[in-house]
Amino acid sequence: MNTRHLTRLLGIELPIIQAPMAGVSSPAMAAAVSEAGALGSIGVGATDAGGAQAMIAAVRERTARSFNVNLFCHRPAVAKDSVERAWIDRFRALFAQYGAPPPDHLSEIYQSFVTDDAMMRMLIAERPAVVSFHFGLPPADAIGALRDAGIVLLASATNLVEAQVIAAAGVDAVVAQGWEAGGHRGVFDPDAPDDRLGTAALVRRLAGSIDRPVIAAGGIMDGAGIAAALRLGAAAAQLGTAFLASDESLADAGYRAALASDAAHRTAMVRAVSGRPARILANNFAALDADIARAAIPDYPIAYDLGKALNAAANARGEYGYGAQWAGQGAPLARAMPAADIVAVLAAELAAAMDRDHG
Ligand SMILES: Cc1cc2nc3c(=O)[nH]c(=O)nc-3n(C[C@H](O)[C@H](O)[C@H](O)COP(=O)(O)O)c2cc1C
Repeated sequence: MNTRHLTRLLGIELPIIQAPMAGVSSPAMAAAVSEAGALGSIGVGATDAGGAQAMIAAVRERTARSFNVNLFCHRPAVAKDSVERAWIDRFRALFAQYGAPPPDHLSEIYQSFVTDDAMMRMLIAERPAVVSFHFGLPPADAIGALRDAGIVLLASATNLVEAQVIAAAGVDAVVAQGWEAGGHRGVFDPDAPDDRLGTAALVRRLAGSIDRPVIAAGGIMDGAGIAAALRLGAAAAQLGTAFLASDESLADAGYRAALASDAAHRTAMVRAVSGRPARILANNFAALDADIARAAIPDYPIAYDLGKALNAAANARGEYGYGAQWAGQGAPLARAMPAADIVAVLAAELAAAMDRDHG
């Protein structure tokens, strides 16, 4: 019942959501996934209203089905000149090694949705079927306006308190993001203590406590994983890393090669790449993170300005180990095939796992 209620709400057939992945999940991926009966998502957190509108149009060119548009709701960055200057200096020698100067200064490379009125107006005009939030929630009036426009809302939680805030705000379902998950952790406050709950424990905590469907996210790579999440009380599963190696993924050659190699067996939670904790393949950047104090890292996404510049400099010399190669703990299980085929395989595996339960 739980699952049927959610799939009906989202306008999909399968209890499967392809995670929004800013910079990686393309409109082609979202459309292919939605056409295959699951919910496709685009991540527009790192773009502006015009860029997001173009991405929505690109999905709609390929499908008339529902899809999800994901926004970042982080606290707007607080610039600290001395921290940013020290951060540039820390990486100066590394930039020199790749024959490039470091950036002169660092800036907030994209705006949080919590202050982005143009993005809000665009969403109300375009009215995608589903909108989701990461890193927190927008103000109550924005949530009210999106709901009044008939948009179904989702938001990520990493603990019970965040989930309670999401439910109280009138959001329709909660994405329970476990510690295993690839990419940025959806914590509302990156400076607060983090209980690092795994997906199974988090889903169980939320399923019994909040009056909203729970969507399990983190380390789910196949139909057996989805079936396990449903058995734990989730109404659906959201999978990101499982789509990283799909044909429609925007992951570059270095990222795909790392994912297909032994490097996929180790991931790490790092803050130095962007300024917020995120799970990444254990590459050169991840190794640097271990020695860096939190207070030395500029605010998100100011730190990301340097992270992207360092990756570009290293890439130009054939070194791909400084990329934001986000991935979850299930990375070695990622399958390289068209996104629609991944959905079909997941659906078949899920059906087989459910049959085993009933047989
Ligand atoms: C490459 C990558 C990028 C991501 N970007 C976003 C994003 O833009 N917005 C978001 O809400 N979640 C993002 N996530 C997190 C996912 O929503 C989800 O929590 C995660 O993928 C689940 O864990 P899994 O990767 O083990 O499946 C990203 C994950 C990955 C792997």
